[in-house]
Amino acid sequence: MLPVVTQIRLTDTLLQQIAAEHGTPLYVYDLDSVRARLQQLRETLPEASIRYAVKANPSAAVLRTLAQTGAGAEVITEGELVRALEAGISAADVLVGGPAQGAELRQRALTAGVGAVSLDSESQWDDWQPELEQAVGPAPAFLVRVNPALDPRTHQHLATGSADSKFGLLPEAAARLASRLSDSGHFAGFHVHAGSQLGDLGVFRGVLDVLDPLCREFPGTLLDLGGGYRVPDFPLSGYAELVRPFAARHGLQLIIEPGRWLVAEAGVLLSTVLHVKPGDVTHVIADAGMADLLRPALYGAEHPVRIAGARAGRSELTVDVDGPLCENADRLARQVVLPEPRRGDLLVIGEAGAYGLGMASNYASSLRAAEVAVESGSHRLVRRREEPADLLRSEL
Ligand code: LLP
Repeated sequence: MLPVVTQIRLTDTLLQQIAAEHGTPLYVYDLDSVRARLQQLRETLPEASIRYAVKANPSAAVLRTLAQTGAGAEVITEGELVRALEAGISAADVLVGGPAQGAELRQRALTAGVGAVSLDSESQWDDWQPELEQAVGPAPAFLVRVNPALDPRTHQHLATGSADSKFGLLPEAAARLASRLSDSGHFAGFHVHAGSQLGDLGVFRGVLDVLDPLCREFPGTLLDLGGGYRVPDFPLSGYAELVRPFAARHGLQLIIEPGRWLVAEAGVLLSTVLHVKPGDVTHVIADAGMADLLRPALYGAEHPVRIAGARAGRSELTVDVDGPLCENADRLARQVVLPEPRRGDLLVIGEAGAYGLGMASNYASSLRAAEVAVESGSHRLVRRREEPADLLRSEL
């Protein structure tokens, strides 16, 4: 198996050089390690078709890298579909999912000729059906998304497979929709995405237990098991050993939709220490915060933080790393131990390649960060930093 080269290439010296060149806040992605991850996944589960969840990181640099290696995409909005196709992902390798699937997305998907659609409700099928009749070209393969109604053992915001979540159809309703689809000759299989940041194989076992009777009653050709692999410690081989025999037993072609696992550890967010405020709690005011990386504020996510090039000899200090905005949730890390931070230090926030810039906002008229890609020993700016004029551009 390939060694996983996670962030080894993003050395402090290189990151300091990139920050000096392009300023902060700045996202830096190591595209070679995205490629290595993809290869590791292919070696571990060669029979699965990969449909990368574009929401994890929609940057064109990342999408092109995945397109070059033949990965497909899972998209839930018209914007994601456009990005995937623009990056060179073939429409046949695109799967449309999500609880909405509005008219613009459906139309564009049919015109482009996407390979698959996962239905999240019966009325979605009511919408697609008449449009399919008008469409020229082959129809997409239709999947039925099942809500496995179990405890995915993750943060509640990420628990898409729990019974009270809006996603998918409970097994009985899923069976009804599968039956309707079968009657019209459009049923291709089932789809489940039980949640994100899943690390417990027992959850996936539970998912397969729910799918088993459905797959028996409605034999299809495809089985989409979604994504959700926890970073940094997903038991990938154990997962492969679990899902492989299941798909084989049912004669189903496996689809997987990893997002975070492919890109999170390949990316860092760089931020500069603006101020250090001593007190009962030492507050380090950074130039990046919730507008740049929302995950700590929204999910209490704990991203690794370090100071690039901090020399030995500094004493260690427990600090909060806070953002620049006027809101208490505006923080990057709580109670982390760092070599005593100083103004001007470069903070490196790890595991930021997924759900980072993609979830960034213009809150408080913040300007979205720039992005740099590191590849084959060189680096380049792949998205410029927003300017104040960008904030005004779409206002009439
Ligand atoms: N497939 C479906 C249908 C999904 O809804 C998602 C993620 C994925 C695949 C990819 O999941 P992943 O492998 O990345 O866990 N903003 C949150 C994550 C939300 C995930 C939403 N769905 C976060 O920052 O943790």
